[in-house]
Amino acid sequence: MTHRTLLPSRRSVLKGAAAFAAAAIPAWYAEELLAQDAPAVPKSANDIPAYALIGCGGRGRSDAHDAQKFGRIVAVCDVDKSHVEGAALELAQSQREADQKAGRTPARGGAAEIRRYTDFRKLLDAEKNLPIVINGTPDHWHTLVNLAVLHAGKDVYSEKPLTLTIDEGRRLVQAVRQTGRVLQTGTQQRSDPQFRMVCELVRNGRVGKLKTVTTIVPAGLRGGPFASKPVPQNLDWDMWLGQAPKVDFVPERCHTTFRFWYDYSGGTITDWGAHHNDIALWGMGMDGNGPATVDAKRLAEPIPGGYTTVPQYEIKYTWANGVEQTCKTTTADSIFGSLDRQPPPGERHNGIVFEGDQGWIYVRRGFVEASDPELLKKPLPAGAERLYASNDHMGNFFDCVRTRKAPVAEAEIGHRSVSVCHLGAISTRLGRKLKWDPQKEQFVGDDEANKMVAREQRKPWTYDTVVQA
Ligand SMILES: NC(=O)c1ccc[n+]([C@@H]2O[C@H](COP(=O)([O-])OP(=O)(O)OC[C@H]3O[C@@H](n4cnc5c(N)ncnc54)[C@H](O)[C@@H]3O)[C@@H](O)[C@H]2O)c1
Repeated sequence: MTHRTLLPSRRSVLKGAAAFAAAAIPAWYAEELLAQDAPAVPKSANDIPAYALIGCGGRGRSDAHDAQKFGRIVAVCDVDKSHVEGAALELAQSQREADQKAGRTPARGGAAEIRRYTDFRKLLDAEKNLPIVINGTPDHWHTLVNLAVLHAGKDVYSEKPLTLTIDEGRRLVQAVRQTGRVLQTGTQQRSDPQFRMVCELVRNGRVGKLKTVTTIVPAGLRGGPFASKPVPQNLDWDMWLGQAPKVDFVPERCHTTFRFWYDYSGGTITDWGAHHNDIALWGMGMDGNGPATVDAKRLAEPIPGGYTTVPQYEIKYTWANGVEQTCKTTTADSIFGSLDRQPPPGERHNGIVFEGDQGWIYVRRGFVEASDPELLKKPLPAGAERLYASNDHMGNFFDCVRTRKAPVAEAEIGHRSVSVCHLGAISTRLGRKLKWDPQKEQFVGDDEANKMVAREQRKPWTYDTVVQA
C-alpha cells in the first residue's frame, strides 16, 4: 500500500464545504471545513480493501454504495435470495462507476465476481481474508452478526440502532475491546458538520447554562390487524426471525416495517431516537453515560393484532447534571423523516432543540435556527472545546480501518445512544417512571424493568452459538 495514493483530497473537502454551506452552515464554520482533511480515496486497485454486505435491503445497499468510493464489494449475503441477486447486480454496476470516478482499474467480472450467500456464517467461514463487513440487517440481527464478524477478525460498519437490548450493547462493547477490531455505528449525523457545530456551540456555553434538550422524532405507524400469508419462496423466514419468537409469516413484520414490532425493534424511539438522542448526548457531553430517570407517557395505543410499538409518546429523562430531556413524537413528518405537513403552532419537525438560560438552538438535517441569529454567526474562540471532526461517516470508518483509530461513532457511543432509546421504550411499555444507574447499567429497585435489559433468545440464535460460528 503506497502512502501517496491514500493522501486525502482537499478538492473533495472543498466541494463538500460548498454543500454544507447550502445546508445552513455559517461562513466561519464553512471556512474551518476547508482546512479539514477528507477521507483517503484509494487510487490504485492494489490499495483498495474488499468488503462484504450482510443484509441487502434498502439501507444496506445504500451503505454499500457509499463504501464503493473507499473499498470494493466482493460478497453479498441476505436471507432473501431476491435481495441477494438484486444487490449483486446493482452493486457490480455502481462499483464500476465508483472505480472509474476514482481513476482506478474497474473490477473485471462485474456481477459474476460478487459472491452470493444466504447464511452469514457461511460467508464468514469462506471469506477468511476479507477485512470488512457492512451490516444492514434489521435491528434484531445487528448484534449477533456484529459479534460473529468481530470474532472472525473483521472490522464492521453496523447500521443503527446498534442493538435490540442494553445487554447486547454491553457485550458488543466488550467484544470490540477484546478483539481490537473497528466498529462504526451507522449514526451518520455524527459526521454531519452542522450537527457537530451545534454540539460544539452548546458545549461552549453559547446558549448559556444548558437547561433542557428536546428530541423530536416522527410518530410511528399505527396499523392492523394483519393476516398471515404463505412464506415467499425466496425468503428463509425462520432465519429472518432469528432470535425473535417463532411466528407465522406476516408481510408487515418483515422488510422495512419490522421497525414497528417490539420483537425486532423499538418503533421510532429506537429508529429515529438512535439519531437524535445520539446528538443530544453529544451536545450535553454525556457520551458513555446515561440518564438518572426515565418517565414515558403513551399518547396513542397500537391496534390489537397490528404493529406492536407505541406510535406516539412523550418521554421525560433527567440527567445527573440537572438537564431535563424530553423525547417526543411529531405527526407532521413521515416515518422516513420527510417534512410532510406544517407542525401545529409551537411544535417543530423532527430534530433537536438545546435550550439554555441565554437562548436556544434547533437543528435538523439541512437546517439550523437559533433564538438569536448571532448565536450561530460568531466563531468559537481559540481554546474552545472542539469535537471529533468527521465529515464523511463511511470515509471515517475506512480511514479508521487503515489507521486503527476509534471511529467517530465507536461501539460505546452507539451503545449508550441507543440505550437512552431502550430506556424510553421500556418505560413506555411498563407505563411507569424508572430510576436508572448508568454506571451499573441496571434499573434501581425494579426487577421487572431489569428483566427487560436483556431478552430471551430463540435457539440456535443465542450469543454463544453465534460467537462460535
Ligand atoms: N442510518 C440510517 O439513516 C438508516 C436509514 C434506514 C435504515 N437504517 C437501519 O438499517 C437497518 C436495515 O433497514 P432497512 O430499511 O434497510 O430494512 P430492510 O428490511 O429493507 O432490509 C433488511 C435486510 O436484511 C435482511 N436480513 C434479515 N435477516 C438477515 C440475516 N440474518 N442475514 C442476512 N440478511 C438478513 C432482510 O432480508 C432484508 O433484505 C435497520 O436496522 C435500520 O434501522 C438506518
